[in-house]
Amino acid sequence: MPRKILVTAALPYANGHIHIGHLVEYVQTDIWVRFQKLRGHQCIFVCADDTHGTAIMIRARREGRSEEAVIADMREAHVRDFGGFQIEFDNYGSTNSPENRELCDTIWASIRSAGLVKEKDVEQLYDPVAGTFLADRFVRGTCPKCGAEDQPGDNCSACGAAYTPADLKNPKSTLSGAVPEVRSAEHLFIELEKLHGFLNEWTQDGTHLQSEVANYLKGHFLGEPLRDWDVSRPAPYFGFEIPDKKGHYWYVWFDAPIGYMASTLEWCKRNGQDLNDWWAAASSAEIHHFIGKDITYFHTLFWPGMLKTAGCNLPRKVHIHGFLTVGGEKMSKSKGTFIMGSTYLKHLPPGALRYYYASKLGSGLDDLDLSLEEFVARFNSDLVGKVVNLASRSAGFLAGKTLSDVYPDDGGLFAAAAERGEAIATFYEDCNYGAATREIMALADKANKFVDERQPWVIRKDPTREAELQDVCTITLNLFRQIVIYLAPVLPELAKQTEELLNRPIVSWADAQIPLAGTPVSPFTHLMKRIETKQVDAMVEESKEVTAAEQSVASGAPEVPAVAFHPADTWQDAGAALAGEPLAAECTIDDFVKIDLRVARVIEAKHVESANKLLQLTLSLGGGETRNVFAGIKAAYKPEDLVGRLVICVANLKPRQMKFGLSQGMVCASGSGGSEVFLLTPDQGSVPGQRVH
Ligand code: MSP
Ligand code: ZN
Repeated sequence: MPRKILVTAALPYANGHIHIGHLVEYVQTDIWVRFQKLRGHQCIFVCADDTHGTAIMIRARREGRSEEAVIADMREAHVRDFGGFQIEFDNYGSTNSPENRELCDTIWASIRSAGLVKEKDVEQLYDPVAGTFLADRFVRGTCPKCGAEDQPGDNCSACGAAYTPADLKNPKSTLSGAVPEVRSAEHLFIELEKLHGFLNEWTQDGTHLQSEVANYLKGHFLGEPLRDWDVSRPAPYFGFEIPDKKGHYWYVWFDAPIGYMASTLEWCKRNGQDLNDWWAAASSAEIHHFIGKDITYFHTLFWPGMLKTAGCNLPRKVHIHGFLTVGGEKMSKSKGTFIMGSTYLKHLPPGALRYYYASKLGSGLDDLDLSLEEFVARFNSDLVGKVVNLASRSAGFLAGKTLSDVYPDDGGLFAAAAERGEAIATFYEDCNYGAATREIMALADKANKFVDERQPWVIRKDPTREAELQDVCTITLNLFRQIVIYLAPVLPELAKQTEELLNRPIVSWADAQIPLAGTPVSPFTHLMKRIETKQVDAMVEESKEVTAAEQSVASGAPEVPAVAFHPADTWQDAGAALAGEPLAAECTIDDFVKIDLRVARVIEAKHVESANKLLQLTLSLGGGETRNVFAGIKAAYKPEDLVGRLVICVANLKPRQMKFGLSQGMVCASGSGGSEVFLLTPDQGSVPGQRVH
């Protein structure tokens, strides 16, 4: 019976880029989803950007633009990075969507009417200059215990003491530098204790959580009354305003998990389905959440509590994983191991990381260590040396021909490997991908032994043994294809290449049970290249250069530098720019339309030898139409940061022959030149080729 499965991965924060730590989760989840689809189940994979909260609000103010603009940019980057790692969502939403607002309203109303909401006054530090309450990490001061200076508002990095921001001596807001005041505000709380009985049962019944998680909850939280959960924040806050408490907003962790539902709703609308079939209590769908261990509390206590109260379907399982370390240590910027997904992709193939993570993942909560040496060795020895090697040593001999008409006697090799199919499937189902890959590699070893013994490259020299050559290669290619099917959830690209090589789609796990016979073999092209250590070195070097700003954001705990800013409604922009370059003489609309400005995508960007100000850009206007442009932006932009982004270009400028080549247009930018150049970016939604009016 096909199951109906809804899978989610945690919604990444919209205030940072995807790094290789995040990818432990997204790769793991994607593998599970692909596995379920291959097994013939109805499975959908939804995710979204987590957009609300103080950090985004502060960032938007600092950058002088709207929160919507900030989250739109980040969304584009996230979607691009996920695509680059072959992570395929059925829907990628946003917590700042109308669907999410609507569902928040509904669930909130249920929680209210269940009598779980109460109001309490909360004292919090308030920045009178910035006009906002301060989260702990936006306050710094002297440790009340050891006297260390410049410590954050929650605990001291020198002596480890934990305290509240109000205990700090000489506290300062990191937003404005002002001395914060203690202010009291009303907050809304959910009385989780009223759900204690249900949560006890749900977490401890042995089916929804890994046993270590269930024990942890029992030992740390469920042994005593559960604390009230503070779910509101007073204005200003970037989020949804609470309908029955004007001027107050839902705390980001209230609306974030509802984002799972909202993303499902978007998918339902697109596919003519009913949300209730997935999320109503009576639904037969299984909900599977994949998360990291840092957000356990939210997903195993708050979230089931909310769902239960609102009469919704509860998660079948919350799959919790550990954290990534690199070389046995936390990811580190100075060591170049804080690696962004986009940086990785510039140097290395996505399949290598997918395979490496799969080979290291068990079903427990252990941290996963990335050893860069092992990463290179494992890819080269397992995938290139064992798996792809099967095809490279046989496919060429049958290129343009066919497999034998009847699958030959292979001494039981194929049947024995087919028999392992269910055991391997169980490993995938249990998220024990390490065991799955080990089992698959053992099959690859056996297949290679067969090739070593039969030596097709020797048979081929003897024209009288043509039929034998065809048989040996038929067996080898079938063993290869069987292994590729077992690896398909991890390596979708290899699966696709194999479909093309052997002219037969891979649609189901059961395809590994029946050998192919008589089908044509395409010309052999290289399936995978060995990884060189120097590619890894270059990635690490480049990661050391990632700016401090990017790094702090990516860590999920933004360190906001002490810059003063004005409250949102009183921007006081200086007049220097306008005074420096007075307005040009008046023009007519006819003058304006002569200039054909178009949205374009930078598809290539490179340095121009011997030109110290120029970058050479290839701009795409869509539909294969491109422009070669030399832009004086070298001091302001790195070529690799430009590729993929949208710009505005003058598309009908008369081409000009330059020393370096033909320049066919201009990109629009503001600023005084040198490193003070700022490219214009069109808003989210625009596409290459659109005219600017
Ligand atoms: N926005 C929240 C999740 C809301 S879900 C309703 C959040 N976002 S996050 O961007 O910080 O993290 C997204 C996921 O990536 C989380 O499950 C987190 O545990 C995981 N990881 C982030 N850094 C990680 C590592 N270094 N290693 C492994 N997983 C990591 O939390
Ligand atoms: Zn201290």
